[in-house]
This record gives sequence, C-alpha cells and structure tokens, in this order.
Amino acid sequence: LLKNNSNILVIGSGAREHALAWKLSKSSYAGQIYVAPGNGGTQQFAHNVDIQPTNIKQLVEFAQASSIEFVVVGPDDAFAAGVVDAFHAAKIKIFGPTRKAAQIESSKSFSKTMMQQAKIPTARFQVFTDYDEARAYAQQQPLPLVIKADGLALGKGVYICKTGKEVTAALQEMMVEKRFGAAGERIIIEQYLQGEEISIHALTDGKDILMFPSSQDHKPIGEGNTGPNTGGIGVIAPVPGYGWGFVQEAKARVIDPVMSAMADQGAHFDGCLYPGLMVENGDYSVLEYNARFGDPEAQAYVRLMESDLLQVLHRGVEQGFADYSIDWKPGFAVSVVIVSEGYPGSYERGNIISGLEQAAAQEGIELFHAGTIFKDGQYLTNGGRVINVTATADTVKRALERAYKAAKLISFKDMYYRRDIGAQYRG
Ligand code: AMP
Ligand code: GLY
Repeated sequence: LLKNNSNILVIGSGAREHALAWKLSKSSYAGQIYVAPGNGGTQQFAHNVDIQPTNIKQLVEFAQASSIEFVVVGPDDAFAAGVVDAFHAAKIKIFGPTRKAAQIESSKSFSKTMMQQAKIPTARFQVFTDYDEARAYAQQQPLPLVIKADGLALGKGVYICKTGKEVTAALQEMMVEKRFGAAGERIIIEQYLQGEEISIHALTDGKDILMFPSSQDHKPIGEGNTGPNTGGIGVIAPVPGYGWGFVQEAKARVIDPVMSAMADQGAHFDGCLYPGLMVENGDYSVLEYNARFGDPEAQAYVRLMESDLLQVLHRGVEQGFADYSIDWKPGFAVSVVIVSEGYPGSYERGNIISGLEQAAAQEGIELFHAGTIFKDGQYLTNGGRVINVTATADTVKRALERAYKAAKLISFKDMYYRRDIGAQYRG
C-alpha cells in the first residue's frame, strides 16, 4: 500500500509534467517530489534531476538511490524506450504502458492495423516504405491527403496536404531527406477528415477503466486554426455538449474494443490511453491513440480533479480500478499556452520572462511552466512552448477571461499566444 511520505519521481520537462508534479505534491502521501529533468516551474517545489526521459538506466539508478516509491511519466518517447519495463524489472512502482503496449502510439502502422482489426472507425489509409509507390498511390487519391511519419516526431510528423505539390514535398521530406530520421522511413497516407477534435482520456489498469471528462486541444499555431501544427497550444475541459454520456459512449466504441485487441496480442494496456477523435455530425473517427496524458490536456485535468492523483495512479498499479472512481470539481478548466514566436519552427531562447508572480496571483489561476529555466534569480525562455496559463471557473467564458487577463500580465521578447482558444464555446 501507499506509504506516508512517499518519494515520487516525475519524468519529463514540459508543462504537463509540471502540472502532474504539482497535483502529486498535494497528496497527503507525498514526500519529496523529484522531476527529471524538470524546468523553471518545477524547481519551485520539487528537486530537478538532470537526467533525460530516455536515459532509462540512469533514471532507474537514481530512483534506487533516492528511495523512490512511485514513478509517473509524461512523454511518449520514454514509454517507447521501455521506461516502464525497466522500472518493473527494478521492482519500483510506475504508472504507464510497457514498451510493447506503447506501440499503439509509437507506431502509427501498428495502431491503424489494430483499429482496422478491432473495427474501430478511423480514416482510410495505406502504409508505405517506398517513395515511388507512395507517390503513385497519392496521385490516385482525392485531396486533401494526410501524410504521417510512422514513428514519433514530437507531434510534428503529420502533414495535411491540400495540393499535389504539398504531397510530393511531404513525401520528399519524410522518405528522401529523412527529416524525422527512422520515424519517417515508413509512412501512412490517410484520407482527410473534417470536423471538430475531441480528446478522450481513459486510465486503465489493463482491465478496469476510469474515464476523464472530455477536452479539446488546439493544434495549429495560428488563430482560426491556420498554419502548421504544434504539439498543442490551448485547451478547454470539459467541452460543452460532450458530457459524460458522450464519454461513456466513446469508452464503449473506442476504448473497450482496443483494450481487448491489445490484450489478444499479449500487450495489455496499463496507463493513460488517450484517443484523439474527429467528430462530425455526431459521428466520429479515431485520429490516433496516445499512450500517455495529453499536453496541454493534463494541465486542465489536474485543475478539475478533486481526487488525490497519487492515490488514483497508485491504485491503478496496486489494487486496480474495480469499484473505484475519481471525483471531479464542477465547472471548467482552460489553458492558454504562451510560446516563443517562431515555434513550431525555430525560435530564440534565453529571453527574460516577467510578470509571472502577478499573473499567478490572479483569481482561479495556476501557471505551469514548459520551456523555462530559473537562472540567477530570473526565469528565462528555454523552449517553444514556454508557459501554460490555466484557469478554472463556473463557465468556459469566465475561465477564458481569467486566463487571458493573467496572460496579459506576462511578457518576454517574441511572446505569442492564440487569442481564440475555446472561441466557439465562449458563448
Ligand atoms: P495525429 O498525430 O495523428 O493525431 O495527428 C496530429 C493532428 O493532425 C491531429 O490532431 C489533427 O489535427 C490532424 N490530423 C491527423 N489526421 C488527420 C486526418 N485524417 N484528417 C484531418 N486531420 C488530421
Ligand atoms: N494534445 C496533444 C498531445 O498531447 O499529443
């Protein structure tokens, strides 16, 4: 069982990991929180440990030396590298999927084939490893077309191509120039789907499942959903009109069948299973399955969760989720992600961030840091996504007003954020 004063290790350095560490730190069972490698925000209340998420051997050694009781992981590449398998071997409790189960995210061809077998609605697709064959197939298909690198590419390996020229350029970049390295040697060509994106999160112990409220990320960098896709730059949760009825139906349609299909392949999924849905006229398809918490979805979820996150995740690993539930606060949570101009392309680092304290002091606000470092008494930018301004309130409109009011108090050179997060739900 969970001990008092348990030392916890959180793996990752984004705002998602800041948010998870922050919520875990509020547990009555939490001892010292360590974050590897962490950021300028996590050093405020946790110990940052200078080890990268995929440096698994060193993470395990650190955990053994620091009496870590429980490990929580953020990023996909750590799961794909087998972080869970390594901690299991070391007999240290960890929440998340094994390397084999994480393939549902780390290989899009694995995931799409699984969806096809389990009869889960998804866009029509073909897998290619040969450039000429891919190009010949693409020329036969109606536009727009979606071209995806098979492997992990920091959320940037998906190209929506509206012209034949864009298709050729995408195939060139991935298969010939190898922009995503080995991740792009195999690619998927997929039918373009229209509609509204909804994120679903399900915590599973391999058998029983706890559903989170719905949420909505915003992917493109530009207002009105224009420009290239980012890793995610704004979120609202729950999404009005997508209540518990919708979530329970999504469980039956896209979580239960995939859990069975995974189990049939000997890859029981434990952890957070997060499908992205494309919804149109009440019907939907799965865009992809992620094997982890969403970023920025997690930043909103920790603000809504009433239950003790450490107890919830530990329960999943020890006793399981049968006869268990999570308590959620009423109302809504939103997050506006402040980035460095240029992201998702190149951007400057090392710019001084001001106004954080004033912003954090506003009603209903919590700031979660992503690409920041704390140096000589100052916070500096250190990444594309820099700060998440999260707000809660009784309505989406009120939560957005709070978040944007706080965001205005923050400033740094080349600061940018979308002003239209949740715009269609502002009412
Ligand atoms: P994925 O990593 O597969 O979820 O793709 C990243 C983003 O690209 C999604 O969140 C969507 O915004 C977009 N996308 C992916 N696949 C499609 C598709 N078939 N049709 C339209 N948009 C898509
Ligand atoms: N919300 C986008 C992602 O976590 O992949």
